[in-house]
Amino acid sequence: MEIYQQVFENNKKWVASKLAQDANFFEKLAKDQRPDFLYIGCADSRVPANEIMGLEPGEVFVHRNIANLVVNTDLNVQSVLNYAVVHLGVKHIIVCGHYGCGGVKAAMQPKDFGILNPWLRNIRDVYRLHQTELDDISDIDQRYNRLVELNVLEQCINVVKLAAVQKRYYKEGAPTVHGWVYDLHNGLLKDLNLDMDAEVKRISKIYDLHEE
Ligand code: CO
Repeated sequence: MEIYQQVFENNKKWVASKLAQDANFFEKLAKDQRPDFLYIGCADSRVPANEIMGLEPGEVFVHRNIANLVVNTDLNVQSVLNYAVVHLGVKHIIVCGHYGCGGVKAAMQPKDFGILNPWLRNIRDVYRLHQTELDDISDIDQRYNRLVELNVLEQCINVVKLAAVQKRYYKEGAPTVHGWVYDLHNGLLKDLNLDMDAEVKRISKIYDLHEE
């Protein structure tokens, strides 16, 4: 059997296993979705959102792109964020990076990546914002890991720049924004424990869209 056909066999087995647990599994899911989480992660095939969080279908709204970027002019991620915050009413927004990220590594190279250049430039901008800290790390692997973390921090900051996020946050104190990093070597998620309240305070003079 070709690998392509195997996927359909896998699907049938998955359907059967779900129905064995709950005969109404799909009927219930088809009615509505009310996920508590929005997950923004890397497109990397080794970081499957639902699986690493142990969440079932219907429990997490997912957006993935190269290096988990929240680009202010990317209509795709901006639409996902607005829909999740305004219509789904998610309680938590997670930006999840991962060590060993190819996108972050590429952005550390003095190399022309063609059509990828404008996307990767967002990561180069993160490097520039934190250049003093990063240049002080002599070990290249440690510097790479730190850029992965700082990229997550800056994407979390991009999330709180959205008017829809600010509006709900000032009204109900939610959603809360979390920065995580996944480790490919051991499968563990690390919470960066970002102090997003402090970050919001720090940038509010510039980015606040909330009218009193
Ligand atoms: Co990646």
